[in-house]
Amino acid sequence: MYQTFIEVAMVTFATYLLASPKNQMTPQVAFVSLTLFSQLRVPLFMISEMIGLTVQTMISNTRLKTFFVEEELDSEAVQRENSNAFFIIINFEKSIEVQTATFSWDSDRNIPATLRNIDLTINRGQLVAVVGKVGSGKSSLLSAILGEMEKRQGYVGIWGKCAYSSQQAWIQNMSLRKNILFEHEYDQLRYKQIIDACELTRDLEILPHGDYTEIGEKGINLSGGQKARVSLARALYQNSDIYFLDDPLSAVDAIVGEQIFKKAIGPEGILKDKTRILVTHSLNYLNECDLIVVINDGTITHTGKYQELIDDPNVADVFKTLQQSSEVEDDEDDEIPPEMDDENKDGEESDKSDVSAPGKINSRFVSRHSTVHSRGRKSRMTVDTEVSL
Ligand SMILES: Nc1ncnc2c1ncn2[C@@H]1O[C@H](COP(=O)(O)OP(=O)(O)O)[C@@H](O)[C@H]1O
Ligand SMILES: [Mg+2]
Repeated sequence: MYQTFIEVAMVTFATYLLASPKNQMTPQVAFVSLTLFSQLRVPLFMISEMIGLTVQTMISNTRLKTFFVEEELDSEAVQRENSNAFFIIINFEKSIEVQTATFSWDSDRNIPATLRNIDLTINRGQLVAVVGKVGSGKSSLLSAILGEMEKRQGYVGIWGKCAYSSQQAWIQNMSLRKNILFEHEYDQLRYKQIIDACELTRDLEILPHGDYTEIGEKGINLSGGQKARVSLARALYQNSDIYFLDDPLSAVDAIVGEQIFKKAIGPEGILKDKTRILVTHSLNYLNECDLIVVINDGTITHTGKYQELIDDPNVADVFKTLQQSSEVEDDEDDEIPPEMDDENKDGEESDKSDVSAPGKINSRFVSRHSTVHSRGRKSRMTVDTEVSL
């Protein structure tokens, strides 16, 4: 900045002298001008800052306005008991209950409801898989239970504190550790366990400052798979009673996904005693789930254990379709854009979905998941971990 000041002074004096032969460089002219320049230095610097801040203010203002004019959600739509231990004790068995409920993303009753006639009871400690085609309403079901959707009829009850990991990983502009802790106290043992369960140990070794590495805006210096795992780690760290996990394994490759399921989500994982609702499009984990919920076109078509469902010819067809669609998706994932293809050539073992080298963004997954969620008309600042109920 001081350099600029000298340059400005020199250019101004040169222009002054060259502009007319009558112009003389006297001490009076020189010193008065220098004083003026020095006084102008700070305001000029502030003008550039101010322009930047004004633009930011305008953008934030538009966003906040859109948020504030949204219709209010009915806080009574979901009956929640998370603080009153008495209610939890007398209703110990149940975690979630939904009875003949219909939900919509829009308050306009002329628009058909997204989820219809939902009946679902989930007991404490159960692992429930939600499967269905893309757009069938899996994510909407989680949002509905969390009270994010308009309830048109029916009953929803939740007993316990909830944590939510959204389909689109949500990363804050702070260090990786802070992203996981999310304002909670650091508990070394628990933290290490979660890092290991989310298969983040290797990533922390590669990142320039380990878990102190600052993560850029929207997780710019993390790959899609890394973001998904950090987001899951954050949800895990919350120590809640009920976990809503919206397809957390879709952005990681099969082997890493299997490990995460085993160490974190599955019957032997960290969350083994918690109630877990896992949206997934992978059929590999279904036989380890206590209950499978099949959704099609906004309604629950089948519920049951894996063996029961696989023996049912109607559901076998659904599973087959899912298997095919996930295979197609995997094939699509192999179509690596030319620039990413070059990156992948370097490492033979770099997996097809989780381009985990730090600093690389797995844009395929980012775009795949953003298609539905970017509509978020009523998304109400969806926070993908702790939902205070
Ligand atoms: N935040 C949202 N705002 C408005 N509509 C949404 C939102 N999320 C999902 N939807 C709509 O709900 C329907 C079901 O989508 P979704 O629940 O995301 O399906 P899935 O998770 O099974 O792929 C779609 O028609 C989608 O457009
Ligand atoms: Mg979804």
